[in-house]
Amino acid sequence: MSPSATAALAGQRILLCVGGGIAAYKSLELVRRLREAGAEVQVAMTAGAQQFVTPLSFQALSGQPVRTTLWDSAAEQAMGHLELARWADRVLVAPATADLLARLAHGLADDLVTTLCLATEAPLSVAPAMNHRMWRHPATAANVALLTGRGVQVIGPDDGPLAEGESGPGRLREPEAIVAVLAAGGAPAAPPAEGLLQGMRVVVSAGPTYEDLDPVRYLGNRSSGKMGFAVAAAAARQGAQVVLVAGPVHLETPPGVRRVDVRSAEQMREAVAAALPADVYVGAAAVADYTPRAFSPSKIKKTGTGQTLALDLVRTPDILAEVAQREDAGLKLVVGFAAETDNVADYARQKLTAKHLDLIVANRVGVPGSGFESDDNAMTAYWPAGERDFPPAPKVRLAEGLVELIAQRLQA
Ligand code: C5P
Repeated sequence: MSPSATAALAGQRILLCVGGGIAAYKSLELVRRLREAGAEVQVAMTAGAQQFVTPLSFQALSGQPVRTTLWDSAAEQAMGHLELARWADRVLVAPATADLLARLAHGLADDLVTTLCLATEAPLSVAPAMNHRMWRHPATAANVALLTGRGVQVIGPDDGPLAEGESGPGRLREPEAIVAVLAAGGAPAAPPAEGLLQGMRVVVSAGPTYEDLDPVRYLGNRSSGKMGFAVAAAAARQGAQVVLVAGPVHLETPPGVRRVDVRSAEQMREAVAAALPADVYVGAAAVADYTPRAFSPSKIKKTGTGQTLALDLVRTPDILAEVAQREDAGLKLVVGFAAETDNVADYARQKLTAKHLDLIVANRVGVPGSGFESDDNAMTAYWPAGERDFPPAPKVRLAEGLVELIAQRLQA
């Protein structure tokens, strides 16, 4: 267990609500890890969860009686469910099944776990786990959006092999990773009552795109997505309704943000179009400029004699330029990013004009400790009649400054 997780969670009272999925067995390990980090853990289980793991196992690991029903008078006498809801510093639902997410999203209170989640004022985190088709279903996506819109933190799911022999997004995050997210995030804050972007609709693109060549290879780039995620998080903290269109990255969805995962430039273009109309578009993604003319359904082979291989590539759509030209998108401000290695200011201003942007944020890449993959950056924002320098700082701080600038430019 990392020292930071131990420091952040020491003494915290965590109510772990276990849903009815096969991943419930991993929640046993979760209890152990949370306790190792110094947290006090109490466990509540749905009826479904008890089909997979016994309350006794959780009792042994948590060192506390486990709650399974609203109707146990002995347990209620020891600590009523409302008292338990008040006891918690934070509530974690893991695994959160599709059904449990739906019931939480709609405020049902028809069993112990949903009643606890409705009754508590503690921050709520959910770690979904389900079949990948259920996770991708629009009904589940809408339920997750309702939850994140209320400030619920969604942890995972991971992409990979699933219990029923299929593969895709739907695996419960590994217990160690869940604990790290809880420790890192602090308390997931509810959206502020009044922020600089209160009620504004903001669409942010982030991360790289992957352009598939064949079933095993793709063209990608080194964008980590950190800056775009930080902008989405900062906008949500300022009260905006944020849709984050994310390329393939391993980053947590910021609290209060609706995330749409995509892979290719074409998918990103469609997801961005579907998220419009909006008030602000921030194109922070490093969209591939070229994609293979044709996807090869079978693996491209080395030929016997050839020492070279030429790839036939075609231009991708320029999402940012397209969005900036759309008159039906309702946009009041379109913000682009420019990653340049030299002549940063010139190229940035050229792009500002050529792509019809309101603001462009330029940063120098290829400098150690800045740009791609780094947690820090230094950047300059340009708009037609002005510019502002952002000295080197963590991307999280820079994103806060940028969101303040966006709010100012909206007033201008
Ligand atoms: O032209 P360049 O790729 O340097 O411009 C970078 C900006 O344009 C970024 O904001 C990026 O998100 C956006 N972009 C885009 N679609 C592309 C290429 C770039 O939206 N195909």
